[in-house]
Amino acid sequence: MTTPQSTPGASQIVPVELGARSYQIRIQAGLLPLLGQDLAARFKFSRVLVVSDQHIGPLHGGTLATSLHRAGVPGEIFLLPPGEGAKSWEVCGSLYGVCFQQGLDRGSALIALGGGVIGDLTGFVAATYMRGIDFVQVPTTLLAMVDASVGGKTAIDHPQSKNGIGAFHQPRAVYIDTDALGTLPARELRAGLAEVLKYGVLEDAAFFEWLEANLAKLLARDGAALAYAIRRSCEIKAAIVGQDERESEGGRRALLNYGHTFAHALESCTNYQSYLHGEAVAVGMVLAGQLAARRGLWSKAEAERVEALISKAGLPVKLRKDDPPPEDLHAATFRDKKTRGGKLRFVLATRLGATEVFKDVPADEALKVWQDAPRG
Ligand code: GLY
Repeated sequence: MTTPQSTPGASQIVPVELGARSYQIRIQAGLLPLLGQDLAARFKFSRVLVVSDQHIGPLHGGTLATSLHRAGVPGEIFLLPPGEGAKSWEVCGSLYGVCFQQGLDRGSALIALGGGVIGDLTGFVAATYMRGIDFVQVPTTLLAMVDASVGGKTAIDHPQSKNGIGAFHQPRAVYIDTDALGTLPARELRAGLAEVLKYGVLEDAAFFEWLEANLAKLLARDGAALAYAIRRSCEIKAAIVGQDERESEGGRRALLNYGHTFAHALESCTNYQSYLHGEAVAVGMVLAGQLAARRGLWSKAEAERVEALISKAGLPVKLRKDDPPPEDLHAATFRDKKTRGGKLRFVLATRLGATEVFKDVPADEALKVWQDAPRG
């Protein structure tokens, strides 16, 4: 799947059931050229603004713009500089300005074309512009396809907290054109696979086994294998979000943070410079496995089986030599949004495909995991 297909592949629909806020995730190779027609048939937006970045825009913006134009959907495309820096007050403010200049009204919609940064920022602007307008997610990275574009978490960063300012705002639709993965750098594809593996560990042992058997195909960008992995990931996420839209206390959405308590600490301590999010999640899942095994919750053999697949996917399973000392990483763990009243919370596996939130993991046990983590 390194070249875009000229004819569209089979379409798969994953519903996200949220009452009045329900929507569909449509997954299809060659979907981008059909998107305008589908939008025009299903929604009557007065105008749209496509938000993308200077990497993705030149690759896919033209196809989307042509498709919207042909379907008679009025709108423009606006390109932001690439990178996490776009999730700032300044860029957010300039995007509101573009929305006003473009004359977007409460019947208009924003279309996020890109990775998680574009989706999070565009979603946040949609949640707040004129007290909330519609938006549509068109993710182009594997990570955004299987996680960020689904479930309605939108955010920008604050200097003191990544994703610190945000809102729950569900998209009206998610369109996943798997052909977009043909241009995704290999490192980003692997980082996206970390979140795919996460779904197997947290919810579905049979899917994990399928991933073990099909990893080589996924790394080789086999279209059918990728489409299945994306669909199954979206089904698992959609089911969990359908049960617990707003990550309520005691609800199931927190399980989606498997590996993320360690990952967020690692990312923040390294200033978001050395690890892609999926890479940090890969290390975080390995450390969560070690913590669960150390506490006697999970078999060491299964934790090692997960670590082996993460490693086979070309993802990191160790800290880097020059990562900050364990004590600093441990201190950062307490700054996680999941911490309550100074108590650490971890999502830990009890068997492959089953996870729970543990609310009172003693601090010294978590510190020991950081201290014992191999470096290399
Ligand atoms: N990425 C975790 C969630 O959407 O809840």
